[in-house]
Amino acid sequence: MLGNKAIKAALMVTLVTLSGLLPLQASADCKFVSTKDGSPLAIKAVDSDTPEAKQFIATCINPYTKKFAENKELANAGKKKFGYWSCTQCHGGNAGGQTGPSITDATWQYSKHVTDKGMFETIAGGSNGGMPTWHNQPAGNPELLSTDEILKIIGWLRVEYKGGGDTPWLNDK
Ligand code: HEC
Repeated sequence: MLGNKAIKAALMVTLVTLSGLLPLQASADCKFVSTKDGSPLAIKAVDSDTPEAKQFIATCINPYTKKFAENKELANAGKKKFGYWSCTQCHGGNAGGQTGPSITDATWQYSKHVTDKGMFETIAGGSNGGMPTWHNQPAGNPELLSTDEILKIIGWLRVEYKGGGDTPWLNDK
């Protein structure tokens, strides 16, 4: 039987092929785009990546979101990173907002933030509205965050969400 992922992957390939954006033989990896200008955001799997990071880069699905939703204790790993990288300075200790916007309410700076891929793109590559570039690859700075660290932060932010309504990020399988 075909798994959900296989069906999704097949659909993706069909859509991409139909839209003529890519040649057939292109890899099926997740295509990240910059929140600044919609240009491609070059983030690739590297040897040091965790299996979760590699899975995300291949599928656009953050495995931590479901894991942390099922066991909220695990989300502390993401909260620690949020503090360690001083995201708290602009967004507050629990991401409820300070000089930067709240990340736990239903108001999104960009509508794509209801997907983990979209939120990842803004954290990884920054925005024109004051969000710095955090991922070590687009920033060209190995001292900055890895894919895995950003994914853990996103998993924690989803646990902290208090906005009610739909939670589309939990629908990803
Ligand atoms: C210098 C202040 C500053 C720091 C530090 C900062 N941010 Fe931001 N962040 C912002 C601003 C300002 C925005 C709004 C950007 C826009 O509208 O273009 C934002 C937007 C966001 C959003 C989208 C929020 C929404 O409601 O749609 C996320 C997610 C986010 N930041 C995560 C992080 C994470 C994770 C870190 C730490 C790695 C971080 N930020 C560090 C200023 C900051």
